[in-house]
Amino acid sequence: MATFSPSTHCPSSSPYSNDSSVINRFHQRIALSSIRPKQCRPRKLSLQQSSLPKAVHLQDGASTKKASPVKSDGPVKILKDGILSVPPVTPPEESIDIAKFDFDKENSTVSITVVGASGDLAKKKIFPALFALYYEGCLPKHFTIFGYARSKMSDAELRTMVSKTLTCRIDQRENCGEKMDQFLERCFYHPGQYDSQENFLELDKKLKEHEDGRVANRLFYLSIPPNIFIDAVKCASTSASAATGWTRVIVEKPFGRDSESSAALTRSLKQYLDEDQIFRIDHYLGKELVENLSVLRFSNLIFEPLWSRQYIRNVQFIFAEDFGTEGRGGYFDNYGIIRDIMQNHLLQILALFAMETPVSLDAEDIRNEKVKVLRSMRPLQLDDVVIGQYKSHTRGGVKYPAYIDDKTVPNDSLTPTFAAAALFIDNARWDGVPFLMKAGKALHDRRAEIRVQFRHVPGNLYNKNIGTDLDLATNELVIRVQPDEAIYLKINNKVPGLGMRLDRSNLNLLYAARYAKEIPDAYERLLLDAIEGERRLFIRSDELDAAWSLFTPVLKELEEKKIVPEYYPYGSRGPVGSHYLAARYKVRWGDVGSEQ
Ligand code: BG6
Repeated sequence: MATFSPSTHCPSSSPYSNDSSVINRFHQRIALSSIRPKQCRPRKLSLQQSSLPKAVHLQDGASTKKASPVKSDGPVKILKDGILSVPPVTPPEESIDIAKFDFDKENSTVSITVVGASGDLAKKKIFPALFALYYEGCLPKHFTIFGYARSKMSDAELRTMVSKTLTCRIDQRENCGEKMDQFLERCFYHPGQYDSQENFLELDKKLKEHEDGRVANRLFYLSIPPNIFIDAVKCASTSASAATGWTRVIVEKPFGRDSESSAALTRSLKQYLDEDQIFRIDHYLGKELVENLSVLRFSNLIFEPLWSRQYIRNVQFIFAEDFGTEGRGGYFDNYGIIRDIMQNHLLQILALFAMETPVSLDAEDIRNEKVKVLRSMRPLQLDDVVIGQYKSHTRGGVKYPAYIDDKTVPNDSLTPTFAAAALFIDNARWDGVPFLMKAGKALHDRRAEIRVQFRHVPGNLYNKNIGTDLDLATNELVIRVQPDEAIYLKINNKVPGLGMRLDRSNLNLLYAARYAKEIPDAYERLLLDAIEGERRLFIRSDELDAAWSLFTPVLKELEEKKIVPEYYPYGSRGPVGSHYLAARYKVRWGDVGSEQ
């Protein structure tokens, strides 16, 4: 299938080269079903039957579920925020959704090559996620993992490096050491340059030895800087793509810096790959609560009817980190927080939040709906953005650095480490509803959440019991993506007693209190999806284009006009400008104030 001549080096093209002379696609795929685990986890939405209580009949003939007490292993506890909680429910044996691999699959194999194996992402996320999948029985019977990087390293050294990062699920520790050893035995290393066809050919030879004549499927995870993406893709495709099975490539952001560079990157990638071979990862889409967003909306009657301008006043997407760029300044300074967090992570969540009901749960149906949302949005205006940059601050005798104290950042850098923005979706459902985003580094806490603020109750009989600040008395739905995953709804409630006093209470679903099972890391879900060929959580090129067109004009304007960011102390709540921006749209940030 490969139509290349095995010259010693891939031509070292520019990252966004247009060179169409080497068009070498590797299309041969086997049917998905031949390698997919029978049921590593159900792909379609399903309720755990075992947890459904038996039906009882009501007077009017309808049937309902009989309430059965939640099986609990211990006493009721009072949590930090004052609510009562029963201890986590241990799922009954038959409801555990990870079924083990079907071990009949003798004839196929999957080779996963982590390109950039000695980098931080590989060590911290990719290898641990692969091990977690192995531990859960989610990898096929025949699989091999190869680390590929420039540094010289033996297989044994790679294994030592990888072993330092592996952990077992806290809720399932049996055979942990044994499983780690078995996993490490499947890990190998091949040193090579990212633009060397010869080195990739050597890799190909080693992969073939491990594949041992089976149908070979190959997944390349590019955990390398963007300026060497295309060289590596070119070499992997021309020298190490699968001869008999599928070849897929996972790429990490940044996908360009703006519309033009992103389109050029896509064009270059498509010289060597088909769109369906490219898995553009946005790891926020792999987070449990983001995955759950559609379940919440589309499988509960009570939310979807309220999901529109008629009932929702505004929606907020908040990302905060309580640490600075810490050594990543070199990368970050070229991008800034709008490109690093807003244009991808927060915008992806917004699209899922606001999309219409898809025709089905299939990847293309969902991605079609997301694109429609993005294309209905107004490009962000300069007036609707506030930018900030953290400055040094001393607290408790400890001096916290400014962004520009990072040695890899120029002293006069204007790159924003904080941004707040107001966006609008000009469609029938969301006309006039502000969608506010806020993202920042070196803030006072770490969180990622969605806040949905509902409108006032018209003609509220209890206004006089609520006090003057009606805004504070409206319902708010909070989806806390991290940390301490939770979904809670703020409601008004009568304080028990003879008088009539209302207070704000939370209907609260705290994951740690409800589910005993550890939440998988986003990378586990995404790697498994890439192996299974499930594209739902990966970004299609038209989505990417639409996302860039919303932010590119304002990014250019900020840079051309050299807009100076508002400086905020390390560890603070960020620039006050974000409050003025919100106030312009009669919005109050939900994460501010004593009662969050
Ligand atoms: C990455 C950004 O995409 O996401 C980082 O480049 C950020 O700047 C990180 O720190 C946050 O991810 P998480 O999963 O730790 O919230």
